[in-house]
Formats: sequence, structure tokens, C-alpha cells
Amino acid sequence: MGRSLVKCLLWGLIVLVHLHGHRGCFEDERKGLLEIKEFVRSSPNITDHHLLHSWVDEPESECCEWERVACNSTTGHVTQLSLHNIRDLYFYCDEFYYYDRKNIIWFLNVSLFETFQELKSLNLSCNAIGGWIENEDSRMKLERLDLGSNMFNRSIIQSLRLFKSLKTLSLPDNSLEGSFPAKELSVFEDLEMLDLSNNEFNGSLTVQDKR
Ligand SMILES: *[C@@H]1O[C@H](CO)[C@@H](O)[C@H](O)[C@H]1NC(C)=O
Ligand SMILES: *[C@@H]1O[C@H](CO)[C@@H](O)[C@H](O)[C@H]1NC(C)=O
Ligand SMILES: *[C@@H]1O[C@H](CO)[C@@H](O)[C@H](O)[C@H]1NC(C)=O
Ligand SMILES: *[C@@H]1O[C@H](CO)[C@@H](O)[C@H](O)[C@H]1NC(C)=O
Ligand SMILES: *[C@@H]1O[C@H](CO)[C@@H](O)[C@H](O)[C@H]1NC(C)=O
Ligand SMILES: *[C@@H]1O[C@H](CO)[C@@H](O)[C@H](O)[C@H]1NC(C)=O
Repeated sequence: MGRSLVKCLLWGLIVLVHLHGHRGCFEDERKGLLEIKEFVRSSPNITDHHLLHSWVDEPESECCEWERVACNSTTGHVTQLSLHNIRDLYFYCDEFYYYDRKNIIWFLNVSLFETFQELKSLNLSCNAIGGWIENEDSRMKLERLDLGSNMFNRSIIQSLRLFKSLKTLSLPDNSLEGSFPAKELSVFEDLEMLDLSNNEFNGSLTVQDKR
């Protein structure tokens, strides 16, 4: 009786470990990260040729342990990508102002992130991104997006409508112009934090009713 109970518990434990301790990153996500690396490497004005050196194309390599990547320890899926200053253009983001921005502009293919269905947090600040190749549709459930210190103009807000689950949106130090985009922003019903400081809005701030 006692022994079979112990056996039972042991089996239970083994099953639990299998269910909860996901080991090894998902192959499609490992490949997706390597695609991002390739995209970054082929961008203009790359200065650091050793960038993302832990992102290696080896099947045994555990991508959840790579630099700038974080996974959910239960599911093993990538949940966070910290790709700020990924082209290594600046020591500090503030230096941005001393560059001729137009000369280092970069356009991002946002479809590269579609592989990561559990991605919650994406940090793309300080990359001199001028815009991105738009997506028709997105399955991503992004909650935190940092696009600060880039070169986005007002059209980025329209493109962001795909990410309706956003809770935190940071877009400071960009080139958003014209009147305050209150209507466009109203699609983000879960939004808790919005940073649009240091842009080029003009005119008066009119707060409208959503309906
Ligand atoms: C950045 O790369 C572009 C395209 O290769 C080039 O025209 C530009 O001069 C470069 N800018 C700097 C600051 O090196
Ligand atoms: C990891 O994923 C599980 C299952 O989806 C979820 O319940 C848990 O909150 C997640 N953990 C973190 C730290 O996000
Ligand atoms: C963007 O990335 C996706 C996914 O990797 C790829 O299928 C598509 O061809 C890319 N688009 C461009 C314009 O590079
Ligand atoms: C805003 O950015 C988009 C995409 O990068 C570009 O096609 C468009 O011409 C820009 N608009 C203005 C007014 O600069
Ligand atoms: C993005 O990364 C920068 C640089 O590490 C950091 O200052 C900023 O707080 C990050 N953004 C978010 C939303 O965590
Ligand atoms: C705001 O800037 C836009 C161009 O970005 C211009 O067309 C418009 O007249 C400006 N409005 C005011 C009130 O200055």
C-alpha cells in the first residue's frame, strides 16, 4: 500500500516535470531569432560585427538563454525581446541627437516577429527606425512595446492598430507630427501607459468621446 503510493507520487512528479519544465527552445522560435539576426546584420550602418554573438545556428543551443531573449519558464516560449540599440549606433540613446538622423535610417520588417506567438514585450528603442513594412494581419498578443528614440512619423500609429492588446506604448523622441492622434489611439482599449513625449505635435489637444 505504502509503496504503491510512493510509486504513484513519483509518477505524478515525472509527469509534472514533463508538463512544466520545458527544456530546449522551440525550433521555429530558434529559427525565427536567427532570421532576426540576419535582418539586423544586413541593415545599414552596422558597426558591431559581433552583434548577438550568443545567437548561434546550432540545433543544441538553448535560445532562451541567448542575450536579449527571455522565455516563460513554464511554456518555454519566447515572451520578451530587448532589441534596443541593436545596431550598436549609440553609447547612450541621448547621443541620438548628435547624429544626422536621416543618414542612418532603417526600415524594419515587422513580420519577423510573427513567429513568436507568446511575445508580450518588445523593445525596439534607439534604432533609428523610420518605419516598417506593414502587416495585413497579426496574431501577436503584444502587451508592451517600446519604440522610443526612433524616426517614426504619425503613420506608425495606424500601423499599430494590429496590436490591440497593448497595455504599454512608448513612442517618445520620434517625429510624430500634426494634431494629437486621439481617435487613432482609441482602438487600444487595454492601454494603461502611453508616452508620446518629445514629438512634433502641434495644434491644441482636444479630448474626444470614443463613441
Ligand atoms: C549609413 O548607410 C547608408 C546606406 O548604406 C549610407 O548612405 C550612409 O552614409 C551611412 N551613414 C553613416 C553615418 O555612415
Ligand atoms: C507563463 O505561462 C503560463 C501559462 O501560459 C502563465 O500562467 C504564467 O503566468 C506565465 N508566467 C509568466 C512569468 O509570465
Ligand atoms: C518579411 O519577413 C517575412 C517573414 O520572415 C518574410 O516572409 C517576408 O518576405 C519579409 N518581407 C520583406 C519585404 O522582406
Ligand atoms: C511617414 O513614414 C512612412 C513610412 O515610413 C512614409 O512612407 C511616409 O512618406 C512618411 N510620411 C511623411 C509625411 O513623412
Ligand atoms: C527598453 O530598453 C531601454 C534600454 O535598456 C530601457 O531604458 C527602457 O526602459 C526599455 N523599455 C521598456 C518598456 O522596458
Ligand atoms: C501642424 O503641422 C501640419 C504639418 O505637419 C500643418 O499642415 C498644420 O497646418 C499645422 N497646424 C497648426 C495648427 O500649426
